[in-house]
Amino acid sequence: MIITLIAALSEDGFISRSHGVPWDLPDDRKHFRQYTAGRCLLLGRTTYQEMNGWFTDHKPLVLTRDATFRPQPGHRRVPTVPLALFYAQQQQAKELIVCGGAQTYAATIPLAHKLVITRVHDRLGSGIAFPAIDPQRWIEITRIEHPADAHHAHAMTFLTYHSLPQGRRRA
Ligand SMILES: NC(=O)c1ccc[n+]([C@@H]2O[C@H](COP(=O)([O-])OP(=O)(O)OC[C@H]3O[C@@H](n4cnc5c(N)ncnc54)[C@H](OP(=O)(O)O)[C@@H]3O)[C@@H](O)[C@H]2O)c1
Repeated sequence: MIITLIAALSEDGFISRSHGVPWDLPDDRKHFRQYTAGRCLLLGRTTYQEMNGWFTDHKPLVLTRDATFRPQPGHRRVPTVPLALFYAQQQQAKELIVCGGAQTYAATIPLAHKLVITRVHDRLGSGIAFPAIDPQRWIEITRIEHPADAHHAHAMTFLTYHSLPQGRRRA
């Protein structure tokens, strides 16, 4: 099973100002929906609560240390990342997709094989950051440019990175 992180980042590496995704970009939402459709998802408790009502065709795993937290029926609370991997494997998932937020990305990026990144051509200056994408570890595999237009206030670049195996990391 591979572990993939999917996120939209500003040019300066932020995923949010303080609450919610700071952009309204329909083609990025479409990209997110297409990539995650029918897949096994992991979300931090904060992001899960923000996305309340979004999970019509998913049964997400929700990462929280709060043993009293009750996700919606059919969704599963997981207290640790290793247990999330265990449940994903039990569902025979080929890929576990980590949908954020920052704490959850930070807890899973050391284990990840793939990053699916929308680089939004906007600078936030401050906010909630995505972990650093170490160029010694991550190699860019695909890149698709999306210009700004009447429905998109910012241009975007859709990127995919793969993790280089330990012995092949660049010095
Ligand atoms: N731009 C994007 O693509 C994107 C994507 C997703 C989210 N976001 C944004 O990211 C922000 C939220 O990020 P966040 O970092 O504050 O929250 P988060 O990662 O969504 O959730 C944090 C919560 O997850 C639980 N948690 C985190 N790490 C854990 C671990 N190792 N073990 C067990 N539980 C753990 C804890 O829950 P308990 O406190 O319940 O124990 C923690 O409070 C929001 O503003 C959201 O809009 C942006």
